[in-house]
Amino acid sequence: MKIETPNDGFDSKGRKRVKGENHDVTIFLNEGRSFACNSACPHKGGPLFIGRVISRGLMCPSHHIIFDTENGKIVENPIPESMGDYRKSGDLKIYPLILEGNNFMIETDD
Ligand code: FES
Repeated sequence: MKIETPNDGFDSKGRKRVKGENHDVTIFLNEGRSFACNSACPHKGGPLFIGRVISRGLMCPSHHIIFDTENGKIVENPIPESMGDYRKSGDLKIYPLILEGNNFMIETDD
């Protein structure tokens, strides 16, 4: 799916949620590197659209798993091993992001 959205502003943390009938992604502007990803965390659906980009990656506000912003793999998982399956998470979907004129183009794989 191709998603087009105007480059019309980001919140104070450099985030812009792009939500429609069939998509919900968030664009992050991050010190010269911008990326788009699903707004819901692959762990338990937490609100990644209010996640924080830190030096090691994108941190989910729910349980603080940190995902690599290049490939979506888990960089750090602070949930204790003793929590068993609750600790498991898939990788984050990162999507190509292109600025064309004044519009961002995002291509998702669905
Ligand atoms: S829901 Fe994101 S880390 Fe758990």
